[in-house]
Amino acid sequence: MQAVHTVKDIRDALASAGTIGLVPTMGALHAGHEKLIETARRECNSLVVSIFVNPLQFGPSEDYARYPRTLPEDLEICRQHAVDFVFAPANDEMYRTPQLTFIDVTRVSEHLCGKFRPGHFRAVATVVMKLFNIVRPDYAFFGEKDMQQLAVIRRMVADLNFPVRIVGVPTVRESDGLALSSRNKYLKPEERKAAPVLYGALQNAASRIASGEHDGAKVRQEALDQLAASPLIRVDYFEIVDPLELQPVTDIRGPVRIAGAIWLGTTRLIDNVTAE
Ligand code: PAJ
Repeated sequence: MQAVHTVKDIRDALASAGTIGLVPTMGALHAGHEKLIETARRECNSLVVSIFVNPLQFGPSEDYARYPRTLPEDLEICRQHAVDFVFAPANDEMYRTPQLTFIDVTRVSEHLCGKFRPGHFRAVATVVMKLFNIVRPDYAFFGEKDMQQLAVIRRMVADLNFPVRIVGVPTVRESDGLALSSRNKYLKPEERKAAPVLYGALQNAASRIASGEHDGAKVRQEALDQLAASPLIRVDYFEIVDPLELQPVTDIRGPVRIAGAIWLGTTRLIDNVTAE
């Protein structure tokens, strides 16, 4: 495995690489990232993992400064998974000139996290497109845990006719249901104990829908009541949306996604499930 830090070096290294797979990450790798890497390893000849904590996708009051950075451990994990290249650029390598060009995937980025993190998905779409242009992957792998991010990337690629196949990978969870996240490290013990309540509320909502409830507002309110029973939890949103453009659904007559975002202390957690 080779660690590469400049755009020129990764392009040169991939010049005759066969099928290229890309797993974009911000590092602090955990078993969720590892699942993406394992899936990618099976599909591609040359596997690139990018590690870049993208400053542009963090709001001014968000956790950019304290975001965990664990490059030596990350490199070791990549080595264990037979990753070919880790692309770990510095900020001024990714942003050689101030970024004046952005990709804005409208509508899909409007609701859910888009409402609470203005500019976030524009920055994600832009950095992912930069990574696509640098690495030129045939396949790129994203976690379903970040449902809206995955939908934004899929729509960007479709709308711009970009030649890459996007592969979604199911969410990896702790045994109590909590979705793995680099941000779980911030949780205090009592917050960690309360954290699985989000997945519990999502599952309850999904089973209400599976057993024939069509009234989205009713299912949503029951979930909000369940979350409100946990005094440590503050809810950003809990919504039932369509799977492609993530618009709110009130009369449930087909497949939907149910997504939630909560705060536990200073930590923001998101999760989602499918229902029909
Ligand atoms: P990061 O949060 O590091 O996540 C990298 C990838 O791992 C994303 O596709 C995310 O959905 C996936 N992932 C995270 N937790 C997961 C879990 N529990 N199960 C399955 N997959 C999981 O998402 C980003 O970085 C950034 O926004 C990025 C796309 C790299 C752009 O900067």
